[in-house]
Amino acid sequence: MALPRVTEMAHELVARHLRPGGRAIDATVGNGHDTLFLATCIGTAGRVDGFDIQPEAIAATAAKTADLPQVRLHLLGHEEMGRIVAGPVDAILFNLGYLPSGDKGLATRPATTLAALDAALGLLSETGLLAVVAYPGHEGGREEASAVEKWFQNAQGLRVVRYAPLPRPSGNEPPCLLVAERRARTVDGDHSSFIVQE
Ligand SMILES: C[S@@+](CC[C@H](N)C(=O)[O-])C[C@H]1O[C@@H](n2cnc3c(N)ncnc32)[C@H](O)[C@@H]1O
Repeated sequence: MALPRVTEMAHELVARHLRPGGRAIDATVGNGHDTLFLATCIGTAGRVDGFDIQPEAIAATAAKTADLPQVRLHLLGHEEMGRIVAGPVDAILFNLGYLPSGDKGLATRPATTLAALDAALGLLSETGLLAVVAYPGHEGGREEASAVEKWFQNAQGLRVVRYAPLPRPSGNEPPCLLVAERRARTVDGDHSSFIVQE
C-alpha cells in the first residue's frame, strides 16, 4: 500500500477529530475537495465554514456541495474567520498556495496566513486539530512555509507533528503537512516529527 500524500494524510488525521454533528473550518476552499471531505465527515448535523478570496473558488465549492446544508461559504480572507465563526471548532484545515489552474498571483501570503493561524488557534476546541499543508516548491511558497513553521514552533501549548516526503537532492522542495493539537492532551510533551520518502 502506498504511503499517503500530504493531502491524504491531512484528511486521515482531520477525520480522526471529526464526528457527526462536529464543527470544521476549511480556511482555503479552492476547488472544494477539502470542504466536501470535511462536510462528509460531520454530516448534516454539523457545520463547515469555508473561506476563499476568489469568487471562482467559492462558486466551484458551492457547486460541489450544493446539497449539503452543513456547508457555509464566505467570500472573505481566512484572516477574518474569528469575526465570522464562533468556536469551539474540532478541525481547521489550511491548504495553502494557489488555485490549481487559477491565478498564481492570488496565492496565500505569509502575513494573512499567520493572522489566520492566530484566529484559528483562538477557535480551536481543547481536543481539536489544526492542519496546514504548505508548498515550499512554488514561488513565494518557501517564504510562507518557513513563516508557518516558525509560527508553529513559537505557538504556546501545542504539540506539533510534521509529515513530508524527504526532498530529492536535485528536486523541488516537496509539500509538507503540519498538524497540531493542544499539548494538554499529550503524554510526552514536546514537538516531534517524522519524515517519509515518497
Ligand atoms: C491550494 S488552493 C486550496 C485547495 C482546496 N482546499 C481544494 O480542496 O481544492 C489555495 C486557495 O487559497 C485561496 N486563498 C488565497 N489567499 C486566501 C486568503 N487570504 N483567505 C482564504 N483563501 C485564500 C486561493 O484563492 C486558493 O483558492
